[in-house]
Amino acid sequence: MARVIFVNGAYRSYAQAVLHVEDRSVQFADAVYEVCEIRDRLIVDERLHMERLQRSLRELRFDPDAAPQPRALGVILRETVRRNAVRDGLVYIQITRGAARRDFPFPPADTPCGVICFARSTSRARAEAKALKGLKVVTVPDIRWRRPDIKSTSLLPNALAKQTARDAGADDAWFVDDTGHVTEGASNNAWIVTASGALVTRPADFGILRGVTRQGVLKLAALNGYNVEERAFTVAEAKAAKEAFLTSASALVLPVVAIDGAVVGDGSPGRFTLDLRRMFHHQAETSTLNTLLA
Ligand code: PDD
Repeated sequence: MARVIFVNGAYRSYAQAVLHVEDRSVQFADAVYEVCEIRDRLIVDERLHMERLQRSLRELRFDPDAAPQPRALGVILRETVRRNAVRDGLVYIQITRGAARRDFPFPPADTPCGVICFARSTSRARAEAKALKGLKVVTVPDIRWRRPDIKSTSLLPNALAKQTARDAGADDAWFVDDTGHVTEGASNNAWIVTASGALVTRPADFGILRGVTRQGVLKLAALNGYNVEERAFTVAEAKAAKEAFLTSASALVLPVVAIDGAVVGDGSPGRFTLDLRRMFHHQAETSTLNTLLA
């Protein structure tokens, strides 16, 4: 089945989809985005993702009248999932500040925002196999700008970090700040479990993205009476931890079994991590796939 992408008001085949070369996302990465999990044809935690998208738009001073409203975006998300017949996978939505003659300050107020949405299937079996094996991560300096709490498409340091991981034969990369503390993963939030069984993750300040999956895991921890410490941890503490894991809408909860070549715990996925992974959807919200008539 041919994949379909939504670009600026129209659903088109990939071959026919067109984005203006002076769309500000191309020259300035002047765009924000969200990635939601699709599970059994339902969008997971759509409300939380749309709230964060609105926050990102506000923080980047997008004109509220020019930006599409969450209800309209919801229709686009669902229709894109439906047209691509995704049962399990991801839906990606991006809002750009629109197309205008290249100039650094914002374009005229009446410039319509751009909207891009695509959906893709992923294999649940493959994801579960990955979770049973666990991931190797490498650490890299966090060279990002100081507002990674905004989910913008300005992701070059993240792409470089992921390539560094690949070159090192690892699966992913964790960013480390100037004081030796882990900030977050290149596309996920970072966690450890201490010897006493406390879950530790960095506070969601301006230095990391406030992950929707992170919020879900915090909720699960509270429901299960797990101890949580929202504080920064060093790479050394992570290497010596009982367990380590990462969270994101695409990875859900994935064990980390090695950091810079040092084995974490006994080198296999830990109990807390696998329990959190198993329980994750118990607390998540799903939205029904109300579809437009084709
Ligand atoms: N990434 N931190 C960063 C830097 C991220 O890019 C992401 C998500 C997260 C986790 O957020 P959430 O739990 O809301 O997905 C943390 C998405 C999946 C991506 O860019 O593909």
